[in-house]
Amino acid sequence: MGCLVVASDPIGIAFDSVRHGRAGVKHFYRLFGSNGLVSSERLRMGFMASICSNEGPFCHSSAILNIGVDFETGSGHCSENRPARNTSMIEVAVYDTKPYDREFLTVAGGKMVRWHFHEFRLSAQTALAASGSQAVCVFVNDVVDAACVSELAKLGVQLIALRCAGFNNVDLKAAKARNIPVVRVPAYSPHAVAEHAVALLLTLSRRTHRAYNRVRELNFSLNGLVGTNVNGKTVGVVGTGKIGKIAAQIFRGFDATVLAYDPFPSPDWAVQHGVRYTALTELLATSDIVTLHVPLLPETNQLINARSLAEMKRGVLLINTSRGKLIETKALIHALKSGQVGGVALDVYEEEEGIFFEDLSGQVLQDDQLSRLLTFPNVLITSHQAFLTKEGLSEIARVTVENILKLEYGGPFAEGTIL
Ligand SMILES: NC(=O)c1ccc[n+]([C@@H]2O[C@H](COP(=O)([O-])OP(=O)(O)OC[C@H]3O[C@@H](n4cnc5c(N)ncnc54)[C@H](O)[C@@H]3O)[C@@H](O)[C@H]2O)c1
Repeated sequence: MGCLVVASDPIGIAFDSVRHGRAGVKHFYRLFGSNGLVSSERLRMGFMASICSNEGPFCHSSAILNIGVDFETGSGHCSENRPARNTSMIEVAVYDTKPYDREFLTVAGGKMVRWHFHEFRLSAQTALAASGSQAVCVFVNDVVDAACVSELAKLGVQLIALRCAGFNNVDLKAAKARNIPVVRVPAYSPHAVAEHAVALLLTLSRRTHRAYNRVRELNFSLNGLVGTNVNGKTVGVVGTGKIGKIAAQIFRGFDATVLAYDPFPSPDWAVQHGVRYTALTELLATSDIVTLHVPLLPETNQLINARSLAEMKRGVLLINTSRGKLIETKALIHALKSGQVGGVALDVYEEEEGIFFEDLSGQVLQDDQLSRLLTFPNVLITSHQAFLTKEGLSEIARVTVENILKLEYGGPFAEGTIL
C-alpha cells in the first residue's frame, strides 16, 4: 500500500478518527493505510492502542483498531479486528448514556450484547439511531411517547428496557398496541435511595451543607448552624413500597416516631417495625419530617401543593427522592418564603428534564423557579443521584442484560420487571 505518513501526532489523529465514527475511520485508513504495516521495518517503538468506538451515527462499535506508531518517523499502521458477526449477539441502542452507564453495562453485557451508546436522548426525532438494534435501553428523561414508539416499531425494535424504576416517560399503551414489551428495573437498590433520603435529611437538619462551605472559607463560626435531632421527632413516610419501607426502618433506628401512609398498606411489616399507618391528612398535620416515596401517577401528580403544604406542621422538613412532579414548586417556594416549610431536600425537581444530569456550569440557568430555590439556605438539591451507588448500577446492568437476553434465548422476563 506504500502509504508513508509523517504526522506529528498519529495517535491523536487515530483518536480523532475514531471519534468521528465510520467516516473518521475511513479517513484514518486513507492516511495510514488499511490492514497492514506502513514502513514496518522502521517501526521501532510502535505500540498498540486498542480503541473501541461506539459513538456517532456511523456506529463502529464492533471494530477494534490496532494502531502502531513509529515515534521517530511519525509513521503508523492500523488494522481493524472486526469480530465475525455473531448471530447470538444482541444489538442494543442505549440512549442518554453517561460514563458510568457504559462502564457497568459493558461489564454486564460481556460478549452477548453489542451496545450502541448514544449521549443524546430517545425521542421520536432520535429513534432512527436505533436502526439495526433489537432493543433500546432508556433512562428517566428519554421521551418514549406514542410517536417515538411508532418510530421504534417501524425499525423493528422488539424491547424497550428502562434502566430505572420509574416509567412515567413511556407510553405503555402505545407500546402494548405495537406489541413491544417494556421492562424496567423495579428494585435495583432501594437501600441506595432510602439512604440518600436520610443523608439529605441529616444534611438539612444539621446544616452540614452550610458548614462545609464555611469551613472551606476558614469561617469557623457556628452562628446560624443550630440544628435539630431526628431522635424524638415524628417522621411521615408517604408510600411504603420497597424504598419507603427501608427509609421508615432507618428512621426507627433514630428512635423517631414513624407514621406511614399508603393506599396499599403492609400491616404485618408495620407491626414488626413499630410503624403506624395513618390517613394522609393526619400524617401531614403531625409530622416534623415528611419524606415522599410514591411513584408519579395521575393521582400523585402535585400531591404536595398549596393545600397540602398548608395542612403540614409549621417548620416541617420535606424530602423528595421520588419524582419532581409530586411537588408543586410554585407552592413550595411560597411556603418556604412564609416559613410554613422549614427546609426542603430534593433529589428530583418538577422541571428537571434537560437540567439534571447535565453540566450547565458555564450557562445562564433559564429555570427561574429552580434559580429561586437555589437561593434559600434551607434548600438542598442533588441532581437525581439517589440511585447512584456501585451496588445500584451493577444491579441495573445485571437485570437489564438478563431481560435483553430473553430476545435471543426466550423465556419470561425477570420477575416483576415487565410493565
Ligand atoms: N431518585 C432516584 O434516584 C430514584 C431511584 C429509584 C426510584 N425512585 C422513585 O422512588 C419511587 C418509589 O420507589 P419504590 O421502589 O419504593 O416503589 P414501589 O412501587 O415499591 O412503592 C411505591 C409505593 O407507593 C404506594 N403508593 C401508590 N400511590 C400512592 C399514593 N397516592 N399515596 C401513597 N402511597 C402510594 C404504592 O402502594 C407502593 O407501596 C419510584 O416510583 C421512583 O419514582 C427514585
